[in-house]
Amino acid sequence: MNVNSVKMSNQCAYKKPQISFKCLRREVCTNMLINRNDTCFFRDGDLIKRLVDYLVKKFECVSKVNLYSYGCSIGEEAYSFLMYLVSKFPNDVVEKFTPIIAKDKDSFIIEEASANKPHIICTEEYENILKFTNNKYDRFLKENQGQVTIKDIIRNKVKFDVADITNDYVNINPDNSVVLMRNFLPYLNGNIDRWTLIRNLGKHLNSNSYLMIGEFDVRGTEWKVTNEIIDSGFERTEIEYLFKKKD
Ligand SMILES: C[S@@+](CC[C@H](N)C(=O)[O-])C[C@H]1O[C@@H](n2cnc3c(N)ncnc32)[C@H](O)[C@@H]1O
Repeated sequence: MNVNSVKMSNQCAYKKPQISFKCLRREVCTNMLINRNDTCFFRDGDLIKRLVDYLVKKFECVSKVNLYSYGCSIGEEAYSFLMYLVSKFPNDVVEKFTPIIAKDKDSFIIEEASANKPHIICTEEYENILKFTNNKYDRFLKENQGQVTIKDIIRNKVKFDVADITNDYVNINPDNSVVLMRNFLPYLNGNIDRWTLIRNLGKHLNSNSYLMIGEFDVRGTEWKVTNEIIDSGFERTEIEYLFKKKD
């Protein structure tokens, strides 16, 4: 299968087909991450939607929430969170959750994210953006000759930085924080690093804070990670993969 054959398939044909190797990889290798920076807008979109709704409610009486997106890649996770949040909630709620602190240990990727380098999206992402923004694609994204960049309305609400969570966790505010560390735990240096990180987060965060992992983390660690999180002082919430630090 080559790029052209995917290009012609119905799956990748929307009003302005934008196919990339990234898209090709995803469609050929369903559910497999073969590039370590790979992500997309509204990956697990329904989960992101439920997460945002849940957090808005849980933090109703709090004036500031510290939201961290670790392993942020070029920012799709943070921007997806924001697109849904801005589409659904009033300004004061948006202000409460922003800026999102987005960090990745890959300095090249952070350079690209900070410079608003064009994103390449495929059909599924395009359709999800419409779905979760009430068809307001143009409110958030700008297209120029097939290249997609982020509009200031959400771009200004994300602060990118280079950091490795295994030592940067000390810079997380222990209170009223939500730490997204999704879909990179299997890439850490084996079980020891993962265990140490999770235990450190368990000691560092207070009981008004949350930790979220991704499906890939669970599958890629043979489900061990969930027990490690619970053993480190967290409890499950009604949102899959979201854990709350215990009182
Ligand atoms: C597959 S992407 C996941 C992106 C996004 N979180 C998601 O769920 O779609 C993994 C990213 O995690 C980053 N990463 C891996 N280990 C990390 C670490 N120890 N600290 C911070 N980022 C890390 C990689 O550089 C890569 O950009």
